[in-house]
This record gives sequence, C-alpha cells and structure tokens, in this order.
Amino acid sequence: MVSAFCEGANTAVGIDVMTRSAEVTTALELQHADALVLATPENFGYMAGSLKAFFDRTFYACMADTTQEGGGSASLLAGRAYSVLVCAGNDGGGAMQSVDRIVTGWRMRKAHPGVIARRLGGEAGSSRGALRSDDLAACRELGQLFAEGLAMGAL
Ligand SMILES: Cc1cc2nc3c(=O)[nH]c(=O)nc-3n(C[C@H](O)[C@H](O)[C@H](O)COP(=O)(O)O)c2cc1C
Repeated sequence: MVSAFCEGANTAVGIDVMTRSAEVTTALELQHADALVLATPENFGYMAGSLKAFFDRTFYACMADTTQEGGGSASLLAGRAYSVLVCAGNDGGGAMQSVDRIVTGWRMRKAHPGVIARRLGGEAGSSRGALRSDDLAACRELGQLFAEGLAMGAL
C-alpha cells in the first residue's frame, strides 16, 4: 500500500516523498513535513503497536508549551493535511479510528478519508492473502492527490 501511495505521489513535480518507519521517525521530522500519511495493519481492532509507540514518543514533542501565556499546549502540526492507510484481514475500522482519534489531538486536517485494504481470504483475521488491485489503485490515487495538492498549494 505504501509503495502504491509513493508511485502516485512521485508523479507530481517538486514534491519530496519520504517514507519512514514508525520506529525511527522523530518529532522534528514530523514538524518539517508538509503533510503526513500514516500506514498500519489492524491488529486486534487497533493500530500496530509500533505506530502506537511512535505516537507515545512524539505526541507531546509536537505540542508547543504555552503555559507561560496562560494557555495549555498548542499543536505544532495544526492545520496540516493527513490521511491513513490500513491493511486488514476483515475489518480495519478500529485501526483507522484509533489513528484518527490521536491525530485529532494534533489538530491536523484529514484531507482524504484514507484507504482500508482487506487482504483476500482474510476472514480468519490473520490472512497473508493478496491485496485487491482496486485498493492499490486507491492508494496510488491518494498519493497523487496529496502530492498534486501540495504542489499547487491547495492541500
Ligand atoms: C495478531 C493479529 C491480529 C489481527 N487482528 C486483526 C483485526 O482485529 N482485524 C482485522 O481485520 N484483521 C486483523 N488481523 C489481520 C491483519 O490485519 C492482516 O493480516 C494484515 O494483512 C496485516 O498487515 P500486513 O500484511 O501489512 O502485516 C490480525 C493479524 C494478526 C497477526
């Protein structure tokens, strides 16, 4: 799904597409990104543990401390576009919701509803079956939309 997204995104001129593992991405890299697309499998109705650990590590580091001015904390990522790619066996909604709930705290803007791809033969919940070509096409389209939107300053 990430490869298909990148294929679509790389068709736009003047946009740098960076793919980073959740295990190593830093809060500073997030702050330098104009948009964010998060990709995760659904495990036990939730996002992958490594993505959750990424949020645990970076969430407050992307909030500016405004307590001196009498406020709480303000997101350094507010208003930036994001979307989500979920790979699932038979559902995917729980992973999508769990990511959205956290990113809402950053006040980011969901610029595309995202893609949930369910692996073929995934009814047993732990399938390693193929991905459908229309789901991959949707990832490619999302990549193109994000990159062209950023290039035109419309995202
Ligand atoms: C431990 C485990 C828990 C899973 N839980 C769910 C689940 O709650 N819902 C679902 O739709 N699929 C579930 N699956 C299926 C995975 O989401 C599916 O195999 C997906 O393809 C994994 O992504 P990956 O191929 O990128 O590893 C689970 C798989 C494993 C191994």
